[in-house]
Amino acid sequence: LERNRNLNTIIIECLNKPMIELLQKIGLAADELQFNAFAVGGFVRDLLLKKNNLDLDIVIEGDGIQFAKNLARKLQGRIKTHERFGTAMIMLPDGTKIDVATARLEYYEYPAALPTVELSSIKLDLYRRDFTINAMAIQLNPEHFGTLIDFFNCQNDLNQRSIKVLHNLSFVEDPSRIFRAIRFEARMAFEIAPHTRRLMHNAVSMQLFGKTDDPRFFSELKQILSEEDPVPAIRRLAEFNLFPFLWPELKPHLKVDRRFLHILHQAQRAISWFRLLYLDEPCHNWMVYLLAIMSRSPDEVLTAFCSRFQIPQKIADRLIWQKTHAEKTANLLSRREIIANSEIYWLLKELSIEGLLYLMALARKNQVKKAASNYVTALRYIRTDLTGDDLMALGYRPGPEFKMILNDLLDARLDDRVHNREEEIALLHRTYPPDSLAAAGPHA
Ligand code: CTP
Repeated sequence: LERNRNLNTIIIECLNKPMIELLQKIGLAADELQFNAFAVGGFVRDLLLKKNNLDLDIVIEGDGIQFAKNLARKLQGRIKTHERFGTAMIMLPDGTKIDVATARLEYYEYPAALPTVELSSIKLDLYRRDFTINAMAIQLNPEHFGTLIDFFNCQNDLNQRSIKVLHNLSFVEDPSRIFRAIRFEARMAFEIAPHTRRLMHNAVSMQLFGKTDDPRFFSELKQILSEEDPVPAIRRLAEFNLFPFLWPELKPHLKVDRRFLHILHQAQRAISWFRLLYLDEPCHNWMVYLLAIMSRSPDEVLTAFCSRFQIPQKIADRLIWQKTHAEKTANLLSRREIIANSEIYWLLKELSIEGLLYLMALARKNQVKKAASNYVTALRYIRTDLTGDDLMALGYRPGPEFKMILNDLLDARLDDRVHNREEEIALLHRTYPPDSLAAAGPHA
Protein backbone atom coordinates (compact mmCIF):
# COMPACT_ATOMS: atom_id res chain seq x y z
CA LEU A 1 0.00 0.00 0.00
CA GLU A 2 1.19 3.46 -0.83
CA ARG A 3 1.94 5.54 2.18
CA ASN A 4 0.98 8.82 0.60
CA ARG A 5 -1.57 7.96 -1.98
CA ASN A 6 -3.99 10.51 -3.30
CA LEU A 7 -7.60 10.10 -2.28
CA ASN A 8 -9.20 12.51 -4.73
CA THR A 9 -11.15 9.75 -6.46
CA ILE A 10 -12.66 8.50 -3.20
CA ILE A 11 -13.31 12.06 -2.07
CA ILE A 12 -15.26 12.82 -5.24
CA GLU A 13 -17.08 9.50 -5.10
CA CYS A 14 -18.04 9.54 -1.41
CA LEU A 15 -18.43 13.13 -0.27
CA ASN A 16 -21.09 15.56 -1.38
CA LYS A 17 -20.22 18.78 -3.14
CA PRO A 18 -20.65 21.13 -0.15
CA MET A 19 -18.29 18.95 1.91
CA ILE A 20 -15.66 18.86 -0.84
CA GLU A 21 -15.89 22.63 -1.21
CA LEU A 22 -15.57 23.03 2.53
CA LEU A 23 -12.40 20.93 2.57
CA GLN A 24 -10.99 23.02 -0.27
CA LYS A 25 -11.80 26.26 1.54
CA ILE A 26 -10.05 24.95 4.64
CA GLY A 27 -6.95 24.22 2.53
CA LEU A 28 -7.03 27.69 0.98
CA ALA A 29 -7.50 29.38 4.35
CA ALA A 30 -4.48 27.45 5.69
CA ASP A 31 -2.34 28.48 2.72
CA GLU A 32 -3.12 32.14 3.39
CA LEU A 33 -1.54 31.80 6.83
CA GLN A 34 1.20 29.49 5.57
CA PHE A 35 -0.04 26.68 7.80
CA ASN A 36 -0.62 23.06 6.88
CA ALA A 37 -4.17 21.78 7.33
CA PHE A 38 -5.22 18.15 7.64
CA ALA A 39 -8.47 16.28 8.09
CA VAL A 40 -7.81 13.56 10.67
CA GLY A 41 -9.27 10.77 12.77
CA GLY A 42 -12.67 9.19 12.32
CA PHE A 43 -13.39 11.31 9.26
CA VAL A 44 -10.48 9.76 7.35
CA ARG A 45 -11.24 6.27 8.68
CA ASP A 46 -14.85 6.45 7.57
CA LEU A 47 -13.96 7.95 4.20
CA LEU A 48 -11.66 5.00 3.48
CA LEU A 49 -14.45 2.67 4.60
CA LYS A 50 -16.78 4.66 2.34
CA LYS A 51 -19.03 5.44 5.26
CA ASN A 52 -20.60 8.77 6.08
CA ASN A 53 -19.14 10.81 8.93
CA LEU A 54 -20.33 14.35 9.40
CA ASP A 55 -17.90 15.33 12.16
CA LEU A 56 -14.92 17.07 10.69
CA ASP A 57 -11.70 17.05 12.73
CA ILE A 58 -8.98 19.37 11.47
CA VAL A 59 -5.39 19.55 12.68
CA ILE A 60 -3.29 22.61 11.90
CA GLU A 61 0.47 22.75 11.79
CA GLY A 62 0.71 26.34 12.96
CA ASP A 63 -1.65 28.31 15.15
CA GLY A 64 -4.96 26.44 15.23
CA ILE A 65 -6.83 29.22 16.98
CA GLN A 66 -5.74 31.95 14.61
CA PHE A 67 -6.67 29.67 11.72
CA ALA A 68 -10.08 28.83 13.20
CA LYS A 69 -10.89 32.51 13.74
CA ASN A 70 -10.03 33.24 10.12
CA LEU A 71 -12.03 30.32 8.80
CA ALA A 72 -15.06 31.11 10.96
CA ARG A 73 -15.05 34.66 9.63
CA LYS A 74 -14.88 33.47 6.02
CA LEU A 75 -17.66 30.92 6.48
CA GLN A 76 -19.83 33.04 8.75
CA GLY A 77 -19.65 30.39 11.43
CA ARG A 78 -19.82 30.69 15.19
CA ILE A 79 -16.63 29.86 17.04
CA LYS A 80 -15.69 28.67 20.51
CA THR A 81 -12.02 28.61 21.40
CA HIS A 82 -10.04 26.88 24.15
CA GLU A 83 -6.84 28.90 24.16
CA ARG A 84 -5.19 26.66 26.72
CA PHE A 85 -5.48 23.60 24.50
CA GLY A 86 -5.04 25.40 21.19
CA THR A 87 -8.38 24.05 20.02
CA ALA A 88 -11.53 25.61 18.59
CA MET A 89 -14.96 24.50 17.50
CA ILE A 90 -16.66 26.13 14.55
CA MET A 91 -20.38 25.77 13.94
CA LEU A 92 -21.44 26.65 10.39
CA PRO A 93 -24.84 28.15 9.58
CA ASP A 94 -25.95 24.81 8.05
CA GLY A 95 -25.15 22.94 11.27
CA THR A 96 -21.82 21.43 10.18
CA LYS A 97 -19.38 21.16 13.07
CA ILE A 98 -15.66 21.57 12.60
CA ASP A 99 -13.18 20.79 15.37
CA VAL A 100 -9.83 22.47 14.96
CA ALA A 101 -6.72 21.44 16.90
CA THR A 102 -3.13 22.62 16.87
CA ALA A 103 -0.39 20.08 16.25
CA ARG A 104 2.55 20.95 18.40
CA LEU A 105 5.78 19.32 19.43
CA GLU A 106 5.87 18.74 23.15
CA TYR A 107 8.45 16.03 23.66
CA TYR A 108 8.96 16.79 27.30
CA GLU A 109 5.39 15.87 28.17
CA TYR A 110 5.51 12.29 26.97
CA PRO A 111 9.08 11.16 27.32
CA ALA A 112 8.21 7.53 27.94
CA ALA A 113 5.79 7.27 25.08
CA LEU A 114 8.08 8.72 22.47
CA PRO A 115 10.99 6.81 21.12
CA THR A 116 12.09 9.66 18.89
CA VAL A 117 11.91 13.41 18.87
CA GLU A 118 12.36 14.00 15.18
CA LEU A 119 8.69 13.86 14.41
CA SER A 120 6.89 16.45 12.37
CA SER A 121 3.95 18.01 14.16
CA ILE A 122 1.32 16.06 12.31
CA LYS A 123 3.22 12.83 12.78
CA LEU A 124 3.39 13.37 16.52
CA ASP A 125 -0.27 14.33 16.61
CA LEU A 126 -1.22 11.12 14.84
CA TYR A 127 1.11 9.03 16.98
CA ARG A 128 -0.70 10.17 20.10
CA ARG A 129 -4.07 8.97 18.92
CA ASP A 130 -5.96 5.95 20.15
CA PHE A 131 -5.75 3.38 17.35
CA THR A 132 -4.02 3.07 14.01
CA ILE A 133 -7.37 3.07 12.21
CA ASN A 134 -7.89 6.59 13.59
CA ALA A 135 -4.34 7.80 12.99
CA MET A 136 -4.40 8.84 9.35
CA ALA A 137 -4.66 12.32 7.91
CA ILE A 138 -5.59 13.89 4.60
CA GLN A 139 -3.76 17.04 3.61
CA LEU A 140 -6.02 19.87 2.51
CA ASN A 141 -3.64 22.58 1.25
CA PRO A 142 -4.32 23.11 -2.48
CA GLU A 143 -0.96 21.87 -3.69
CA HIS A 144 -1.33 18.54 -1.87
CA PHE A 145 -5.09 18.33 -1.64
CA GLY A 146 -6.32 14.82 -1.01
CA THR A 147 -2.97 13.30 -0.10
CA LEU A 148 -3.36 10.55 2.48
CA ILE A 149 -0.77 10.74 5.25
CA ASP A 150 -0.16 7.32 6.73
CA PHE A 151 3.00 7.01 8.83
CA PHE A 152 2.14 3.86 10.74
CA ASN A 153 0.81 1.44 8.18
CA CYS A 154 -2.71 2.29 9.24
CA GLN A 155 -4.32 1.50 5.89
CA ASN A 156 -3.17 -2.05 6.29
CA ASP A 157 -4.86 -2.37 9.69
CA LEU A 158 -8.00 -0.80 8.32
CA ASN A 159 -8.05 -3.29 5.45
CA GLN A 160 -7.48 -6.14 7.88
CA ARG A 161 -10.20 -4.71 10.12
CA SER A 162 -7.75 -4.79 12.99
CA ILE A 163 -7.78 -2.47 16.02
CA LYS A 164 -4.26 -1.72 17.21
CA VAL A 165 -2.78 0.88 19.52
CA LEU A 166 0.16 2.94 18.30
CA HIS A 167 2.26 2.39 21.40
CA ASN A 168 2.22 0.37 24.62
CA LEU A 169 1.29 3.24 26.89
CA SER A 170 -1.87 4.15 25.03
CA PHE A 171 -4.27 2.77 27.66
CA VAL A 172 -2.14 4.09 30.50
CA GLU A 173 -2.36 7.57 29.04
CA ASP A 174 -6.07 7.30 28.46
CA PRO A 175 -7.91 4.29 29.93
CA SER A 176 -11.19 5.38 28.35
CA ARG A 177 -9.69 4.02 25.12
CA ILE A 178 -10.48 0.53 26.41
CA PHE A 179 -14.14 1.38 25.90
CA ARG A 180 -13.42 2.86 22.51
CA ALA A 181 -11.66 -0.31 21.34
CA ILE A 182 -14.70 -2.32 22.37
CA ARG A 183 -17.08 0.11 20.71
CA PHE A 184 -15.24 0.16 17.39
CA GLU A 185 -14.85 -3.60 17.42
CA ALA A 186 -18.55 -4.18 17.89
CA ARG A 187 -19.78 -1.40 15.64
CA MET A 188 -17.67 -2.09 12.61
CA ALA A 189 -17.15 -5.83 13.06
CA PHE A 190 -13.43 -5.26 13.55
CA GLU A 191 -11.18 -7.27 15.79
CA ILE A 192 -8.91 -6.03 18.57
CA ALA A 193 -5.43 -7.31 17.70
CA PRO A 194 -3.84 -9.77 20.18
CA HIS A 195 -1.14 -7.42 21.45
CA THR A 196 -3.65 -4.63 21.98
CA ARG A 197 -5.95 -7.10 23.72
CA ARG A 198 -3.14 -8.00 26.12
CA LEU A 199 -2.51 -4.33 26.85
CA MET A 200 -6.20 -3.91 27.62
CA HIS A 201 -6.21 -6.87 30.01
CA ASN A 202 -3.10 -5.47 31.66
CA ALA A 203 -4.64 -2.05 32.05
CA VAL A 204 -7.75 -3.57 33.60
CA SER A 205 -5.82 -5.74 36.03
CA MET A 206 -3.60 -2.79 36.97
CA GLN A 207 -6.83 -1.01 37.86
CA LEU A 208 -5.96 1.97 35.76
CA PHE A 209 -9.38 3.39 36.32
CA GLY A 210 -8.71 4.99 39.66
CA LYS A 211 -10.22 8.16 38.34
CA THR A 212 -13.80 7.36 37.44
CA ASP A 213 -14.54 11.04 37.65
CA ASP A 214 -12.89 11.42 34.27
CA PRO A 215 -15.93 12.40 32.19
CA ARG A 216 -14.51 10.45 29.25
CA PHE A 217 -15.51 7.16 30.86
CA PHE A 218 -19.17 7.91 31.02
CA SER A 219 -19.13 9.57 27.65
CA GLU A 220 -17.65 6.42 26.09
CA LEU A 221 -20.04 4.12 27.94
CA LYS A 222 -22.94 6.26 26.80
CA GLN A 223 -21.74 5.89 23.24
CA ILE A 224 -21.53 2.12 23.59
CA LEU A 225 -25.09 2.04 24.89
CA SER A 226 -26.19 4.29 22.04
CA GLU A 227 -24.98 1.96 19.30
CA GLU A 228 -27.60 0.27 17.17
CA ASP A 229 -26.98 -3.06 18.89
CA PRO A 230 -24.96 -2.59 22.08
CA VAL A 231 -25.32 -6.19 23.23
CA PRO A 232 -22.10 -7.57 21.66
CA ALA A 233 -20.13 -4.67 23.16
CA ILE A 234 -21.73 -5.21 26.56
CA ARG A 235 -20.71 -8.87 26.40
CA ARG A 236 -17.21 -7.77 25.51
CA LEU A 237 -17.15 -5.40 28.52
CA ALA A 238 -17.83 -8.43 30.66
CA GLU A 239 -15.15 -10.50 28.91
CA PHE A 240 -12.60 -7.80 29.61
CA ASN A 241 -13.68 -7.95 33.22
CA LEU A 242 -14.99 -4.40 33.19
CA PHE A 243 -18.25 -5.09 34.99
CA PRO A 244 -16.66 -4.78 38.43
CA PHE A 245 -15.41 -1.37 37.39
CA LEU A 246 -18.67 -0.23 35.83
CA TRP A 247 -21.12 -1.43 38.41
CA PRO A 248 -19.25 -2.92 41.37
CA GLU A 249 -22.42 -3.03 43.45
CA LEU A 250 -23.89 -5.45 40.95
CA LYS A 251 -20.88 -7.69 40.93
CA PRO A 252 -22.13 -10.55 43.08
CA HIS A 253 -25.28 -11.01 41.03
CA LEU A 254 -24.46 -9.70 37.63
CA LYS A 255 -23.21 -12.12 35.05
CA VAL A 256 -23.97 -12.07 31.41
CA ASP A 257 -26.44 -14.86 31.96
CA ARG A 258 -29.70 -15.68 30.27
CA ARG A 259 -31.78 -13.34 32.37
CA PHE A 260 -29.40 -10.46 31.85
CA LEU A 261 -29.33 -10.96 28.09
CA HIS A 262 -33.07 -11.43 28.00
CA ILE A 263 -33.81 -8.00 29.40
CA LEU A 264 -31.23 -6.39 27.10
CA HIS A 265 -32.84 -8.04 24.11
CA GLN A 266 -36.25 -6.94 25.30
CA ALA A 267 -34.95 -3.38 25.57
CA GLN A 268 -33.58 -3.65 22.07
CA ARG A 269 -36.90 -4.91 20.74
CA ALA A 270 -38.78 -2.10 22.43
CA ILE A 271 -36.36 0.48 21.01
CA SER A 272 -36.54 -0.83 17.44
CA TRP A 273 -40.31 -1.03 17.66
CA PHE A 274 -40.39 2.61 18.73
CA ARG A 275 -37.85 3.71 16.09
CA LEU A 276 -39.84 2.10 13.33
CA LEU A 277 -42.97 3.99 14.32
CA TYR A 278 -41.47 7.29 15.42
CA LEU A 279 -38.33 7.85 13.43
CA ASP A 280 -37.99 11.49 14.40
CA GLU A 281 -39.01 11.44 18.02
CA PRO A 282 -35.98 11.81 20.26
CA CYS A 283 -35.20 8.86 22.51
CA HIS A 284 -32.03 8.33 24.54
CA ASN A 285 -31.41 4.65 23.88
CA TRP A 286 -28.54 4.56 26.36
CA MET A 287 -30.95 5.38 29.18
CA VAL A 288 -33.19 2.45 28.27
CA TYR A 289 -30.20 0.08 28.23
CA LEU A 290 -28.76 1.46 31.44
CA LEU A 291 -32.13 0.97 33.15
CA ALA A 292 -32.30 -2.55 31.74
CA ILE A 293 -28.83 -3.35 33.07
CA MET A 294 -29.85 -2.04 36.49
CA SER A 295 -33.24 -3.70 36.46
CA ARG A 296 -32.41 -6.39 38.98
CA SER A 297 -30.89 -3.98 41.47
CA PRO A 298 -32.32 -1.56 43.98
CA ASP A 299 -32.32 2.18 43.28
CA GLU A 300 -29.23 2.69 45.41
CA VAL A 301 -27.12 0.83 42.88
CA LEU A 302 -28.16 3.21 40.13
CA THR A 303 -27.63 6.16 42.46
CA ALA A 304 -24.13 4.93 43.25
CA PHE A 305 -23.38 4.44 39.56
CA CYS A 306 -24.52 7.96 38.73
CA SER A 307 -22.43 9.57 41.41
CA ARG A 308 -19.35 7.48 40.62
CA PHE A 309 -19.44 8.59 36.99
CA GLN A 310 -20.40 12.16 37.81
CA ILE A 311 -23.62 12.03 35.84
CA PRO A 312 -25.29 15.44 36.14
CA GLN A 313 -27.77 15.47 38.99
CA LYS A 314 -30.71 16.31 36.77
CA ILE A 315 -30.11 13.27 34.56
CA ALA A 316 -29.43 11.05 37.57
CA ASP A 317 -32.69 12.11 39.22
CA ARG A 318 -34.57 11.47 36.03
CA LEU A 319 -33.07 7.99 35.63
CA ILE A 320 -33.88 7.01 39.17
CA TRP A 321 -37.41 8.34 38.98
CA GLN A 322 -38.05 6.48 35.72
CA LYS A 323 -36.65 3.27 37.19
CA THR A 324 -38.84 3.39 40.28
CA HIS A 325 -41.95 4.44 38.48
CA ALA A 326 -41.62 2.00 35.57
CA GLU A 327 -40.99 -0.94 37.89
CA LYS A 328 -43.89 -0.06 40.16
CA THR A 329 -46.20 0.36 37.20
CA ALA A 330 -45.09 -2.87 35.51
CA ASN A 331 -45.86 -4.65 38.73
CA LEU A 332 -49.25 -3.07 39.09
CA LEU A 333 -50.25 -3.72 35.49
CA SER A 334 -49.17 -7.34 35.65
CA ARG A 335 -51.68 -7.95 38.42
CA ARG A 336 -54.61 -6.71 36.34
CA GLU A 337 -56.15 -8.67 33.49
CA ILE A 338 -58.53 -5.96 32.41
CA ILE A 339 -57.69 -2.34 32.72
CA ALA A 340 -59.43 0.73 31.34
CA ASN A 341 -57.63 3.02 28.91
CA SER A 342 -58.10 5.91 31.26
CA GLU A 343 -56.33 4.01 34.03
CA ILE A 344 -53.44 3.14 31.72
CA TYR A 345 -53.24 6.77 30.72
CA TRP A 346 -52.89 8.13 34.23
CA LEU A 347 -50.48 5.39 35.26
CA LEU A 348 -48.11 5.97 32.36
CA LYS A 349 -48.53 9.68 31.81
CA GLU A 350 -45.51 10.71 33.87
CA LEU A 351 -43.10 8.27 32.25
CA SER A 352 -40.71 9.53 29.58
CA ILE A 353 -40.27 7.59 26.34
CA GLU A 354 -37.18 5.98 27.86
CA GLY A 355 -39.16 4.96 30.94
CA LEU A 356 -41.96 3.56 28.79
CA LEU A 357 -39.57 1.49 26.68
CA TYR A 358 -37.91 0.23 29.84
CA LEU A 359 -41.33 -0.77 31.15
CA MET A 360 -41.97 -2.69 27.93
CA ALA A 361 -38.62 -4.44 28.31
CA LEU A 362 -39.48 -5.39 31.88
CA ALA A 363 -42.91 -6.73 31.06
CA ARG A 364 -43.23 -10.45 31.48
CA LYS A 365 -46.92 -10.56 30.74
CA ASN A 366 -48.36 -9.59 27.42
CA GLN A 367 -50.99 -7.35 28.97
CA VAL A 368 -48.28 -5.05 30.33
CA LYS A 369 -46.57 -4.72 26.98
CA LYS A 370 -49.93 -4.15 25.32
CA ALA A 371 -50.89 -1.44 27.79
CA ALA A 372 -47.60 0.38 27.18
CA SER A 373 -47.79 0.11 23.40
CA ASN A 374 -51.41 1.26 23.51
CA TYR A 375 -50.28 4.29 25.48
CA VAL A 376 -47.35 5.10 23.18
CA THR A 377 -49.23 4.68 19.90
CA ALA A 378 -52.65 6.01 20.85
CA LEU A 379 -53.55 7.10 24.34
CA ARG A 380 -50.84 9.72 24.79
CA TYR A 381 -52.27 11.71 21.87
CA ILE A 382 -55.88 11.77 23.01
CA ARG A 383 -57.27 15.18 23.99
CA THR A 384 -60.68 16.51 24.83
CA ASP A 385 -62.32 18.88 22.39
CA LEU A 386 -63.46 21.15 25.18
CA THR A 387 -60.94 23.41 26.86
CA GLY A 388 -61.09 25.62 29.92
CA ASP A 389 -62.12 28.50 27.66
CA ASP A 390 -65.01 26.45 26.33
CA LEU A 391 -66.19 25.72 29.86
CA MET A 392 -66.22 29.44 30.56
CA ALA A 393 -68.04 30.13 27.32
CA LEU A 394 -70.58 27.52 28.39
CA GLY A 395 -71.13 29.53 31.53
CA TYR A 396 -69.00 27.66 34.09
CA ARG A 397 -67.09 29.86 36.47
CA PRO A 398 -63.32 29.15 36.49
CA GLY A 399 -62.07 27.46 39.62
CA PRO A 400 -60.17 24.45 40.89
CA GLU A 401 -62.96 22.19 39.63
CA PHE A 402 -62.05 22.95 36.03
CA LYS A 403 -59.14 20.55 36.12
CA MET A 404 -61.35 17.82 37.58
CA ILE A 405 -64.09 18.39 35.00
CA LEU A 406 -61.63 18.34 32.10
CA ASN A 407 -59.98 15.19 33.43
CA ASP A 408 -63.38 13.53 33.69
CA LEU A 409 -64.05 14.43 30.09
CA LEU A 410 -60.65 13.09 29.09
CA ASP A 411 -61.42 9.81 30.89
CA ALA A 412 -64.65 9.55 28.94
CA ARG A 413 -62.79 10.22 25.75
CA LEU A 414 -60.08 7.64 26.54
CA ASP A 415 -62.67 5.02 27.45
CA ASP A 416 -64.63 5.67 24.29
CA ARG A 417 -67.69 6.97 26.09
CA VAL A 418 -67.67 10.22 24.10
CA HIS A 419 -66.29 10.87 20.65
CA ASN A 420 -66.73 14.53 19.79
CA ARG A 421 -67.49 17.97 21.07
CA GLU A 422 -71.26 17.53 21.16
CA GLU A 423 -71.03 14.33 23.18
CA GLU A 424 -68.59 16.01 25.55
CA ILE A 425 -71.02 18.88 26.11
CA ALA A 426 -73.87 16.43 26.70
CA LEU A 427 -71.78 14.52 29.22
CA LEU A 428 -70.73 17.76 30.86
CA HIS A 429 -74.33 18.82 31.37
CA ARG A 430 -75.26 15.40 32.66
CA THR A 431 -72.38 15.07 35.11
CA TYR A 432 -72.11 18.66 36.14
CA PRO A 433 -75.61 20.11 35.81
CA PRO A 434 -75.48 23.89 35.99
CA ASP A 435 -76.63 24.02 39.62
CA SER A 436 -74.56 21.09 40.96
CA LEU A 437 -71.38 23.11 41.32
CA ALA A 438 -71.41 25.84 43.84
CA ALA A 439 -68.15 27.38 42.70
CA ALA A 440 -68.11 26.45 39.06
CA GLY A 441 -71.77 26.70 38.18
CA PRO A 442 -72.92 29.03 35.43
CA HIS A 443 -73.10 32.71 36.33
CA ALA A 444 -76.74 33.22 35.50
N1 CTP B 1 -9.14 10.14 20.07
C1 CTP B 1 -8.13 9.57 20.81
N2 CTP B 1 -8.35 9.14 22.10
C2 CTP B 1 -9.57 9.29 22.66
C3 CTP B 1 -10.62 9.88 21.94
C4 CTP B 1 -10.36 10.30 20.63
O1 CTP B 1 -7.02 9.42 20.29
N3 CTP B 1 -9.78 8.87 23.91
C5 CTP B 1 -8.87 10.62 18.68
C6 CTP B 1 -9.06 9.56 17.63
O2 CTP B 1 -8.06 9.73 16.66
C7 CTP B 1 -10.40 9.87 17.02
C8 CTP B 1 -10.49 11.38 17.16
O3 CTP B 1 -9.75 11.68 18.35
O4 CTP B 1 -10.49 9.46 15.69
C9 CTP B 1 -11.91 11.90 17.28
O5 CTP B 1 -12.58 11.32 18.35
P1 CTP B 1 -14.13 10.99 18.34
O6 CTP B 1 -14.86 12.03 17.63
O7 CTP B 1 -14.52 10.60 19.72
O8 CTP B 1 -14.16 9.62 17.55
P2 CTP B 1 -14.29 9.20 16.04
O9 CTP B 1 -13.08 8.40 15.72
O10 CTP B 1 -14.64 10.33 15.16
O11 CTP B 1 -15.45 8.14 16.15
P3 CTP B 1 -17.03 8.30 16.07
O12 CTP B 1 -17.32 7.85 14.67
O13 CTP B 1 -17.52 7.36 17.09
O14 CTP B 1 -17.33 9.72 16.37
